[in-house]
Amino acid sequence: MERTFIAIKPDGVQRKLAGEIIRRFETKGFTLVGLKFLHVSRELAEAHYDVHKERPFFAGLVEFITSGPVVAMVWEGEGVVAAARKMIGATNPLTAEPGTIRGDFGVNIGRNIIHGSDAIETAQREIALWFKDEELVNWQPHSMPWLH
Ligand code: CMP
Repeated sequence: MERTFIAIKPDGVQRKLAGEIIRRFETKGFTLVGLKFLHVSRELAEAHYDVHKERPFFAGLVEFITSGPVVAMVWEGEGVVAAARKMIGATNPLTAEPGTIRGDFGVNIGRNIIHGSDAIETAQREIALWFKDEELVNWQPHSMPWLH
């Protein structure tokens, strides 16, 4: 089953948006299979944003993502990578559509609340970078008998 990597960035945590964001993914119908709350090391931040290392905003981006705790998650479901990108909205919260997470809660491109993998291959790389295999929970909500 398809999985994606989602991180609530330090600004999202500081603004107490974690519950709202998790609620949106749950009520949409996706399944949480990994969750941790952590201060990101410089090493992890640089590896995560490796594709942006030549960009002028790279140093600021690493500085920001390591500046406070982050909620790192793995969500599972059919088409979850593309659907999560839609739910998150455009990179710049000022142009992100209302109804999306960035469109509803943000105004600053450098403080855009949340990260979501941009493709299936990226998701696989990011999940492996942030989570050990044993930190991911293999479960299916509909196979839990007491819910029937
Ligand atoms: P994210 O989805 O985490 O992936 C790369 C991040 O780089 C992006 O969200 C933004 O937070 C950041 N970013 C992209 N463009 C800019 C920019 N022009 N200035 C500052 N940060 C940027």
